[in-house]
Amino acid sequence: MTKNIVIKFGGSLLFSEGGIINSQKITEFCNTIKHKNDYNSIVIVCGGGTIARQYIRAIRDLTGNEVLCDLVGIEISRVNSRLFIAEMKGLAYPQVPTSFEELSLALGTHKITIMGGLQPGQSTTSVAMTVADYLKAEKLVILTDVDGIYDKDPDLHKDAKLMETISYDSLQKLILDSSADTQASAGEYRIFDAVSLQILKRSRIKVIVMSGKNLSQFQKLWNNEKQFIGTTISK
Ligand code: UTP
Repeated sequence: MTKNIVIKFGGSLLFSEGGIINSQKITEFCNTIKHKNDYNSIVIVCGGGTIARQYIRAIRDLTGNEVLCDLVGIEISRVNSRLFIAEMKGLAYPQVPTSFEELSLALGTHKITIMGGLQPGQSTTSVAMTVADYLKAEKLVILTDVDGIYDKDPDLHKDAKLMETISYDSLQKLILDSSADTQASAGEYRIFDAVSLQILKRSRIKVIVMSGKNLSQFQKLWNNEKQFIGTTISK
């Protein structure tokens, strides 16, 4: 039976203070993937990070056109993907797929595929979710800058608790009920956008949200350890 996995590498993990590219983290992440590979297909979806946000801010000031802002965010996420392709060397498909047609060609080579955004109006989490649905992936791992999903925004509430598991319906309720707290603008506490919630409801894919600030939890998951810090979203 084929076993596929999608990993979203949050843009917030890509850059250190001052916008310096965190090459060490990219190397550590790629080495983990290279070290052990149990999967038929691996797709890594890369976010835009602070650089994308700088461009988005400038384009917004210059034009006030949100679609152009999205397009520049997509471009930057594709440039970021190049960092992983470079580090994976021959193990990665050398191009960044920009459509599902191109993705299917990349998957046909059985190399690790790295991609960024696809079309305006969504985040790279939505891309990761759609790709996971397309691949009928065993799981989607979302590496971000928080330990998982909390019952409240941890930046605003000291008593916020990390949830080990959450159902699709409870996640939707949590996000809709606390939309003022959690559905913030780009760069703030916001893991799921509206598109990704819709795809999740349809695909019912198993999603694990965990911190990629320190890759130790991801390494545990990658090595099939049962205990790790993060939130599993499932039926
Ligand atoms: P993200 O906001 O998804 O990147 O994409 P990120 O930095 O990883 O986000 P976090 O840290 O996980 O929250 C950057 C921007 O690119 C545009 C959106 O404007 C998005 O905010 N984008 C991305 C699209 O318009 N379409 C896509 O398919 C992907």
